[in-house]
Amino acid sequence: GFIRDIIGIDEMESNLKQMLGIKKVIIVSGDSEETPWVKDELGKACVTSINENLMGESIIAVTGGSTMAAVADMMTPQSNERELVFVPARGGIGEDVKNQANTICSKMAEKTGCKHRVLYVPDQVSEEMYRSMIKEPEIHEVLSLIKSANMVLHGIGDALKMAERRKTAAEDIRKLEESKAVGEAFGYYFNEVGEVIHKVQTIGMQLNDLNNVEHVIAIAGGASKAKAIRAYMNRAPKNTVLITDEAAATELLKG
Ligand code: BG6
Repeated sequence: GFIRDIIGIDEMESNLKQMLGIKKVIIVSGDSEETPWVKDELGKACVTSINENLMGESIIAVTGGSTMAAVADMMTPQSNERELVFVPARGGIGEDVKNQANTICSKMAEKTGCKHRVLYVPDQVSEEMYRSMIKEPEIHEVLSLIKSANMVLHGIGDALKMAERRKTAAEDIRKLEESKAVGEAFGYYFNEVGEVIHKVQTIGMQLNDLNNVEHVIAIAGGASKAKAIRAYMNRAPKNTVLITDEAAATELLKG
């Protein structure tokens, strides 16, 4: 639009898309770290993308985080053109209840008048425990929904901030620091060039599964997330759509 042309956002979007080598970049004005309602704008942009891209029955896998919680807040009732099922992308990876994927999916279902499923898996369980849990019929069913998701909505975080938020063991934090992890998504930690340094062991969607998903939308804003976004985008599937804010975009474009 006219206003966007004047402030050059359209141009920033195409430059950033080029730079990151992904499908599309959507930038909302402002800085979501400084101004809380900019997070809502990120959420609105995400809702618009869903409505533009999905028709009929769809399964949407969702991660946790405060940005995804804002996305949930912005959702609106769906017409009967769309039947959505929201599922957490992965099992528990250490978040406050309000920022957990289960909570966010339930809110998305409530706001849209659609369905959701929960995936109750404790944060830290033994291999043995996992193996028996995934045989549970209910968990098994949710896992197969996740496998057939046609859209993924996920956040991106600063590696060390996320590790702290998850109360990660000191030894793993050291590993992240030593190998210079900068970004995090889905419980995977990445260095500057997008190599996986460490991952949270849990069931559900794994990084490589993303390649089989038709619509992948990453939502992350704020200047402090620029490094994390750049790191993750080195590894992200090429069909990723990034929804970000002007502050992060400006920082990213500085290169
Ligand atoms: C977490 C996700 O719940 O939220 C992470 O598991 C993501 O993968 C993080 O990076 C983002 O959090 P926020 O609050 O910055 O949106």
